[in-house]
Amino acid sequence: MKGIEIISTGAGIPSKVMTNDDFAKIVETDDEWIFTRTGIRERHFCEGDENNLKLATDAAKQAFERAGISREEVGCVVCATVTPTYASPSTACLIQKEMGLPEDIPVLDINAACAGFIYGLEVARGLLSAGDKKYGIVIGVEQLSKVIDMTDRSTCVLFGDGAGAAVIRAEEGLPYDNYLGVKGGLEIYIEGVGSKSSTVHMDGKAVFRFAVAAIPKVMNAIFEKSGKTMEDVDHCICHQANARIIDHVIKKYKAPTEKFYKNMEHYGNTSAASVPTAMNEMWEKGMIKTGDNLMLVGFGGGLTMAGAMLRFKGEEKK
Ligand code: UT7
Repeated sequence: MKGIEIISTGAGIPSKVMTNDDFAKIVETDDEWIFTRTGIRERHFCEGDENNLKLATDAAKQAFERAGISREEVGCVVCATVTPTYASPSTACLIQKEMGLPEDIPVLDINAACAGFIYGLEVARGLLSAGDKKYGIVIGVEQLSKVIDMTDRSTCVLFGDGAGAAVIRAEEGLPYDNYLGVKGGLEIYIEGVGSKSSTVHMDGKAVFRFAVAAIPKVMNAIFEKSGKTMEDVDHCICHQANARIIDHVIKKYKAPTEKFYKNMEHYGNTSAASVPTAMNEMWEKGMIKTGDNLMLVGFGGGLTMAGAMLRFKGEEKK
């Protein structure tokens, strides 16, 4: 198998901002509870003609334009989502059409919930390893606003919409270490197409306990495989479910706080989109430099957990 590196990033963020105060008008909650328990102050929701497909396409196009490659060089499109606009065809099929990408490449959606983008990197790596083309587009996208139960204060305040994407390059010998796993379970679920209820159900406490154990488990497995340590990592980008989960991890590793990026304050939990949108925001702020070693970690429904340590080899933000 080839290794992979990140060449560029992109994002699609919907325009409507929902603040904690907006939720306080709908359910019995307040900004103080939400912010102190989660680190979230606001999130973005789709409105008008915005939807999962549009956000995903915007993110993929932006990453592609920043990569400076031709359409013919793209060897696959992998889109991670649990809230596609169409159950069929896949989001990736419609992105391929909209972007005018080659017809002789595999494109597909995957579902690994909040670990989806990192699972997607591995799927793309496999597809590129088996083919001749070097570049792949991996997207994480959600429109969770359409599956939120607006009467359930314990879940409705948590989630947001968004999309993040990356262009990756695969080549023999590139440094890349990962861990993909699953515990199995219905602690977070959304019923499938055709069912009466299609809202998110979550046992928050159980998922919290899982998350604080899963992140170090994933990271330790990668450190063991690679012979690297936290010192070798420039940025840890974890799934942005709850600031307290990331704080637990920082404490456990006695790591510098600034090594762990947090942006749930402005986006909430965007499931598969959270890691790539955070990575894109860091790039846009000039925080990610060419050659930086990134540790990406996701966890969530399933109960899936995944991590990848890889380099950012694209151009820095000018
Ligand atoms: O993306 C997938 C991964 N998902 C996650 O990682 C989520 C992990 N879980 C969490 O982040 C946290 O468990 C939550 C933020 C979901 C909940 O925080 P918590 O500290 O576990 O709160 P809780 O569910 O134990 O609720 C504590 C209290 C309850 O009241 P009582 O029973 O103690 O009287 C809740 O009814 O807080 C109440 N509560 C709220 N109060 C005001 C729950 N939601 C709210 C709310 N506003 N929005």
